[in-house]
Amino acid sequence: MSTGNATSYDKKSVKDVEVKGKKVLLRCDFNVPLDKETGEITDEGRIVAALPTINYLLEQGAAVIACSHFGRPKGEFRSEFSLAPVAVCLAKHLGKPVKMAKDVIGSDAVSLAKGLQPGEIMLIENTRFHKEEEKNDPEFAKKLADMADIFVSDAFGSVHRAHASTEGVSHYLPAVSGFLLKKELDHIGGAISAPKRPLVAILGGAKVSDKLGVINNLMKIADSIIIGGGMAYTFFKAQGGRIGNSLCEDNEIENVLKMLENAKTRGVKLLLPVDSIAGSEFSNNTEPKTVLSNEIPDGMMALDIGPKAVEAFVNEIIAAKTVVWNGPMGVFEFSKFAEGTKAVANAVAQSHAISIIGGGDSAAAVRKFGLEDKITHISTGGGASLEFMEGKILPGIACLLDA
Ligand code: 3PG
Repeated sequence: MSTGNATSYDKKSVKDVEVKGKKVLLRCDFNVPLDKETGEITDEGRIVAALPTINYLLEQGAAVIACSHFGRPKGEFRSEFSLAPVAVCLAKHLGKPVKMAKDVIGSDAVSLAKGLQPGEIMLIENTRFHKEEEKNDPEFAKKLADMADIFVSDAFGSVHRAHASTEGVSHYLPAVSGFLLKKELDHIGGAISAPKRPLVAILGGAKVSDKLGVINNLMKIADSIIIGGGMAYTFFKAQGGRIGNSLCEDNEIENVLKMLENAKTRGVKLLLPVDSIAGSEFSNNTEPKTVLSNEIPDGMMALDIGPKAVEAFVNEIIAAKTVVWNGPMGVFEFSKFAEGTKAVANAVAQSHAISIIGGGDSAAAVRKFGLEDKITHISTGGGASLEFMEGKILPGIACLLDA
């Protein structure tokens, strides 16, 4: 891995505004996983990632009113979606109390915000307890904004949502990015707008329909595109291969053929896994068998990429100067089918390339294999990093003040 030089996405950051003595509405993405039985937070990554901005604001003498969504409570107050466990976790990391409001824009939140002193932090309840949040309702956004003087967005994982707390509030307050959001923009933006070449994009996961946008955009940018995971088999079927019971989206065959054609025209190297590890059922108990990916026997399904594919992919990755990776190569949750994803993760970690991992499953894989320290940047955004790599304009970024 290498640390690389990132290009900035020209938005004002928290360093460009005076925050001393101000009340700051800080949008974080505290949508963290909880253990269903114990209610404990199982991955504190997103909370830890928010700490640099929070600490900076508190040290500068701002009063911080933090907010976030949490899960999908669909506009109702539901205790299982309360942010209270996040406040406890945040207080542990900050080493200072985090005042937890009982509501979002109600009397408790408003009076806590009013009395909040410089250097103090509070957290309001889950913004999605109000249906107005997802509707980006202007009145709701104004009530959120009325508690503060400045809006700082550090919720990269939510910037693809045009919601009241991610976009709406920017109509009422000066809006700037926090350090996490800036880091995400610099790293991902840098990798796709001014990559060191060759740029190798690795795309995996189950469905090609989820990755069409990103493949089409990366086709304009990348030197090579590696395709693995369940979505690869729609490509083999499209070219007349036999794929047994492997995943396939028949309605995407036309799009996939266009993509193959497009790659040829543009001179982009598109690598598919020549061989696969297949099983007779979607389970870790099935007997793994190495097969050619376009000759998968009836009754078998591909669950990982095979050794020849691993070799080809690793060679491509090792020669890269920039790697972006989104989506696993196989069902890495099953130990018998984890080798392909593990080999790709190791190659990315060992390469001297600037390495960017989109959130979600590929980030989980890198963490599972203990390689996170060897990666330049692991995004905190799942859907957001994908949409960013698709080249879409993201409302939670577009709304920030230009630098
Ligand atoms: C995520 O976990 O990807 C973000 O927090 C966004 O969550 P959402 O898909 O419920 O908007």
